[in-house]
Amino acid sequence: MTVLTDIGQLATCPPDAPDAGLIPDAALVWDAGRIVWAGPEADLPDTFADADRQSADGRLVIPGLVDCHTHLAFAGDRADEFVERIKGTPYLEVARRGGGIQKTVRATRAASDADLEAAARERLAAMARQGVTTVEAKTGYGLTFADELRVLRLYRRLGEEGPQRIVATLLAAHIVPPEYADDRAAYVRLIVDEMLPAVANEGLADFVDVFVEETAFTAFEAWTIFAAAHAYGLGAKLHADQLSDGDGAALAAEVGAASADHLECVSPDGIRALAEAGVVAVSLPIATLVLGQEPLPARALLDAGVRVAVATDLNPGSAPSASLGLALWLACTRQRMTPEEALRGATAEAAHSLRLADGTGSLTPGSPADVALVDAPSLDAWLSTWRAEPVRRTVIAGETVWERRDGSGTEG
Ligand code: NIG
Ligand code: FE
Repeated sequence: MTVLTDIGQLATCPPDAPDAGLIPDAALVWDAGRIVWAGPEADLPDTFADADRQSADGRLVIPGLVDCHTHLAFAGDRADEFVERIKGTPYLEVARRGGGIQKTVRATRAASDADLEAAARERLAAMARQGVTTVEAKTGYGLTFADELRVLRLYRRLGEEGPQRIVATLLAAHIVPPEYADDRAAYVRLIVDEMLPAVANEGLADFVDVFVEETAFTAFEAWTIFAAAHAYGLGAKLHADQLSDGDGAALAAEVGAASADHLECVSPDGIRALAEAGVVAVSLPIATLVLGQEPLPARALLDAGVRVAVATDLNPGSAPSASLGLALWLACTRQRMTPEEALRGATAEAAHSLRLADGTGSLTPGSPADVALVDAPSLDAWLSTWRAEPVRRTVIAGETVWERRDGSGTEG
């Protein structure tokens, strides 16, 4: 049993509260990988008097962060495209010329298992330094039966070996791969008739995602894929209304999706549909920034009663950063989310978007003991500034997986 005392501010982020459940001068107790008590230190029961005590030295303590939208495994880079976009070529024009996602598909298919795994591990290590303890990881750069399953098997291995918990999503419907350019229906059939049964049979994914966009998949193609996925017990997620309003939010509501992600171009009708169907809106402010877009209407979504999550969208093109801290800061500064709303977005609401009902993303009795200690006295103090690596210590299932000492990081 561990008793963490001298917490300057504790954010418990209860699953169904509207706020971050902030408690000043708090203590937190965990045992056997689960939270057993959280509250004001003055109320700490005597029963914990003999337990191992650790001091948070007045720091902010938050639930381990949940990055609920990443494209974790990919090879190569898109530095050329970055420069082209600066010079004025739009993201979709790069894609039309065979760059963009297609370039990463070529590099990922060509990468060895070892190189792909090493790159993914490096990104997970960077995320651990950000306090990220649960990671949703999408495929989508393989786009063949073998390459999509290869990445899902890698995610399974990474989840088993830890330290982070991994939730895997099949995004075979990211783009139509070039070899199917003249027969898109055949690619949709490959997903429905071959990939989905194999993924379900091996239990390799919890969700299926579709990029619904002019240059990717139509709403009808997406509907076909989600209907098949549902029959296999796989949940739905969508890249929706990112570059244009393609009625992605309405489709997400219709298919009972767990989340609709991006939503920079969502319509008022789309917002109403998400609210009525209880679909989580996942905001991806790094991608919005990189592509020079106006942010999604976070305030309108929140006012309509939609849960809004915040994630990195980590990928080599639109969001080349694993910094969930950066996404949170942008959620505050660009999306007008309060620090409490932003933190909930990367904890309790993010867990909701992954349908994790075991208390992940919260620090309430019974939750996994996934915790981050932040080098700031309070949530407002943390998110009113931006620092590359503000986390001091990351704990997963009660074990310290990362700790910064004397200004340099040490894994413990
Ligand atoms: O979430 N929108 C589609 N997919 C990614 C971008 C992937 C890429 O550019 O490689 C996204 O922004
Ligand atoms: Fe994405």
